[in-house]
Amino acid sequence: MNKDFTIDLLDLVLSLATAVDLVSTVVADHHKRVAYVALSVGQELDWSRDQLEELVLAGCLHDIGALSLKERVSTLDFELANAKNHAELGYRFLSQFPLFKDIADIVRYHHTYWDDGKGAKADGDDVPAASHMIHLADRISVSIDPKRHVLIQAQDIYQKIRENAGRMFVPGYVEAFEKLSAKEYFWMDAASPSIELALRRRITSGSIRLDLDEMGALAEVFMRIVDFKSTFTSTHSSGVAATAEALARIVGFSDLECKYMRIAGLLHDLGKLAVPAEILEKPSALSEEEFSVIRGHTFYTRQVLESMGDLGVITDWAASHHERLDGSGYPSHEEMEELSLGARIISVADVSTALTEDRPYRKGMTKDEALEVLQEMADTSALDGTIVSQLHQNFDVVNDARIAAQKVAAKEYDEMVKSLGLS
Ligand SMILES: [Fe+2]
Ligand SMILES: [Fe+2]
Ligand SMILES: [Fe+2]
Repeated sequence: MNKDFTIDLLDLVLSLATAVDLVSTVVADHHKRVAYVALSVGQELDWSRDQLEELVLAGCLHDIGALSLKERVSTLDFELANAKNHAELGYRFLSQFPLFKDIADIVRYHHTYWDDGKGAKADGDDVPAASHMIHLADRISVSIDPKRHVLIQAQDIYQKIRENAGRMFVPGYVEAFEKLSAKEYFWMDAASPSIELALRRRITSGSIRLDLDEMGALAEVFMRIVDFKSTFTSTHSSGVAATAEALARIVGFSDLECKYMRIAGLLHDLGKLAVPAEILEKPSALSEEEFSVIRGHTFYTRQVLESMGDLGVITDWAASHHERLDGSGYPSHEEMEELSLGARIISVADVSTALTEDRPYRKGMTKDEALEVLQEMADTSALDGTIVSQLHQNFDVVNDARIAAQKVAAKEYDEMVKSLGLS
């Protein structure tokens, strides 16, 4: 087992962008389009390679703090009210990972108006030039109507942007955009369904090396972005991580394997980025289509983790948490012999956490109730009987670890909700 991870940042942010833009066809490719437009204008202005790379990374992540579908769609209005919340939340998520610090600052101010120069500062802080560039790219992107040919719209979009130079946008950036706007290739690329290829043709990004602790910190950032999408599940991944780690220790995994298991638990529902909060929180029964969207989440967990680089067993464990020993799980319908011990542990951890954790609309099950359900699932060969019986014998240790971890996560969540005035 490796103690270090090599992560390709561009691959990582592109696959995150893909997942978050899957919540609705209305927002299709929005993040990549913003990255592409910002990169193009930046290149027109001869920004440095590092600045361009930051533009692309920030462009791919800029709306990561817009948690619900309703909020995502509202960011597509040219003049939007109350844009600050999602930008501030995005900043808070990203700034918790030291390597994302600069990108976090860019995201924080990506809706700041230039205001004839006053927008160089906000709340006493310097607003990064890249924030103003992302703002311009974002408003260009939302102005493209996907239902009409992009070239018919180019002139009108340019006019609309120019009218707002100075008030909304940095005039020099608008001038650079004017030059681009005369070129069909710019618009064709910007509206293309293969925009990712256009991006990759123009920029590569270095990989970063993370040690195990740094990887754990990155996983926590993703865990918050996923869990905070819904009050219902705001501490779920923390609970699964603690439960899976405790179970792994009991089963006899090494220290290193236990740390891997915790990271897999933090990341297991990463694919829920692609699931609208409205479905996660739907109070009534799910339609067949909505249930299909939910079932897709483990597929995207695998896709995003694979795109990050070689995470070893973490990817397999995290993405297999809904597989069942009898082949009735998803998405691969793997059976007993094919499922690794780690995958079996995380499946038990996921079910047991879901049963015992409190949700806003119901109390978690008691020890006896939860163990009964788990035992039934072991009896029907859905879950691994040995792991379930080990959980049975060590229930209090495992459950206390879960409760402690979820307490920390709940506190973080409450503080965030309070400080941003969200409900
Ligand atoms: Fe935004
Ligand atoms: Fe946006
Ligand atoms: Fe899941």
